[in-house]
Amino acid sequence: MRQKIVAGNWKMNTTYQEGIDLAIAIDKAVAEKGDKNVQVVVAPPFTHIAEINKVVNNERISVAGQNCATETSGAYTGEVSAEMLWSAGADFVILGHSERRSYYGETNDMLKIKVKKALEFNLTPIYCVGEVLEEREANKHFDVIKKQLETVLFDLSDEEYKQIVIAYEPVWAIGTGKTASPAQAQEVHKFIRDLLVAKFGETAKNTSILYGGSCKPSNAKELFANPDVDGGLIGGASLTADDFLGIINGF
Ligand code: 13P
Repeated sequence: MRQKIVAGNWKMNTTYQEGIDLAIAIDKAVAEKGDKNVQVVVAPPFTHIAEINKVVNNERISVAGQNCATETSGAYTGEVSAEMLWSAGADFVILGHSERRSYYGETNDMLKIKVKKALEFNLTPIYCVGEVLEEREANKHFDVIKKQLETVLFDLSDEEYKQIVIAYEPVWAIGTGKTASPAQAQEVHKFIRDLLVAKFGETAKNTSILYGGSCKPSNAKELFANPDVDGGLIGGASLTADDFLGIINGF
């Protein structure tokens, strides 16, 4: 069965104490009112991960990193490795977010290495793909997404591939208030699934494909109602426990 997942990407928001308080509020909301069929993930800044892992109920809420290093350990000032994330209690790691690609120069080739590292240290990658506005307007979005998937995932073994979660985040919808229409989201999600099924077979029918980009309690239901949309990767609306809960309960 395909797992429904709602993941909150906090990006570079919250001080340490604000982050702990938010995690406690989310934990309470999920325990009292959250859809039990949904796997909830929170991706706070690195500094908060270990403590948040202690304050949430790990059966209902998993903790994620927002990035990891290409290397395992060593003289790489400022980097955080997959093993460090794992040892701090993370189960997931977001990789290939468009902000990492555009502001920090992450390429498909680097992401291929990061995905492998994450898997080596038992982290589930939430691998992000998506096109910028010019690519969509030029009708190149399918080509861009195909390349992002092929370069990064297609050398994985079937065993490795099983661990992967995909997030489709059209860059023009991130933090802009513009959401992909349910039909646009479904069209791309189906394209992604068909490509993955052609490569990895039946296993890919169980791959969770999340939508991200201005997802809110008010539009989550119509997005999640699509057959190939298995949840969301949420930015702004994951910073308030009530809004995040509204999305978790959007199925
Ligand atoms: P917003 O929900 O703020 O548009 O951000 C989406 C996102 O980038 C999640 O990774």
